[in-house]
Amino acid sequence: MKLNIQTKDSNYPIVFNNSFQNLQVLFEEIRLVGNKICIITDDNVDPLYGDMLENELINISPRIIKYSITPGEEAKTLDTVHKIYSYCLSNQFDRQSVIVALGGGIVGDIAGFVAATYMRGIKFIQIPTTLLSQNDSSVGGKVGVNFQKYKNMIGAFYQPQLVYMNTSVLETLSDKEFASGMSEVIKHGLIRDRDFYNYLIDNANLIRAIDHDTISYMNHRSCSIKGDIVSKDEKEGSIRKYLNFGHTIGHAIETLSNFRYLHGEAVALGMIAACHISFQRNMLSKLELNSIVNTLKLYNLPVVLESLSSEDIYKQLFYDKKVSNNKIIFILLNGIGDCVEANDVRKEEILEGIEFIKRGA
Ligand SMILES: NC(=O)c1ccc[n+]([C@@H]2O[C@H](COP(=O)([O-])OP(=O)(O)OC[C@H]3O[C@@H](n4cnc5c(N)ncnc54)[C@H](O)[C@@H]3O)[C@@H](O)[C@H]2O)c1
Ligand SMILES: [Zn+2]
Repeated sequence: MKLNIQTKDSNYPIVFNNSFQNLQVLFEEIRLVGNKICIITDDNVDPLYGDMLENELINISPRIIKYSITPGEEAKTLDTVHKIYSYCLSNQFDRQSVIVALGGGIVGDIAGFVAATYMRGIKFIQIPTTLLSQNDSSVGGKVGVNFQKYKNMIGAFYQPQLVYMNTSVLETLSDKEFASGMSEVIKHGLIRDRDFYNYLIDNANLIRAIDHDTISYMNHRSCSIKGDIVSKDEKEGSIRKYLNFGHTIGHAIETLSNFRYLHGEAVALGMIAACHISFQRNMLSKLELNSIVNTLKLYNLPVVLESLSSEDIYKQLFYDKKVSNNKIIFILLNGIGDCVEANDVRKEEILEGIEFIKRGA
């Protein structure tokens, strides 16, 4: 299965498969045979899939080097980027060389930033290995690193030549990481496609069992929703903001809990709070609100927020990068499958939404 992503300046395929087997052919198709390759990965993914990937690429590259980072957000810094520049330079990497990201969103964001900036930009391939990176971070071209205490503060928009999704790597992913990725998949259904949302309910057993065909189909539909939005608004001037559904309160929860909640888990809680606001505004029925909570539960996502103060969460909302002129921007659902942007959500509505997830939705 294949999906083409078209942006203003680029056009690249996302390929869905259940092995690494056709990578050679794809490298030939995008004319990357004969180039030096630097695989960027992390210390969890490397022992699982590093050799497997290298064996696939060995016949098409005169030189493959590998840089593995320590897993976790702490490594997502300019310091790591600096070390990779030095490593590439000492291996005589030039403008024809290729960066291949093998890992989750952290690896993809760092590797993409290196590719975007080394010698003003070299070719870049994404091989996302978490469900979150397959459905979110590898599509859309945002790359970058954290700076001081600010997440993703330094970065660029930089599109890859190819995104390659091998669903079989998801078998080694922890249940918690899998659930976290499902949150963004469900988000795509909620904001844009009611049928896809229903598909996720009807096929939950196959998806949770990582049935390859079902996951490939799911990833394809989920990426086409994100790809469609990004094609129309690459730099977040208008509809790309819809992808922030659940992220306003989600980010605040993520930060205040000191990342005890994984990103997708915090977003699940943020989505419920935003749904409660939508419900109070008569944009969502009680039945729909309950269905959303149950679907998140079905995929082992949290629906009850523990031990954070509503006022603290409210204050934290003003630190978000997305605050514009001191106005908090919310994405609200207009029924399942449609959404709108709102910058007039009152403090009381927000606090009620937070109370709703604290009580246990
Ligand atoms: N660029 C974007 O548009 C965008 C969008 C969303 C999130 N992000 C970024 O993505 C990052 C989070 O990405 P993530 O959730 O993939 O986290 P991650 O990269 O930290 O991966 C999660 C954990 O799973 C491990 N892992 C990865 N693949 C595995 C596999 N197949 N088997 C076993 N273990 C595996 C990793 O080593 C890590 O410990 C954040 O830094 C976030 O800011 C970026
Ligand atoms: Zn997200």
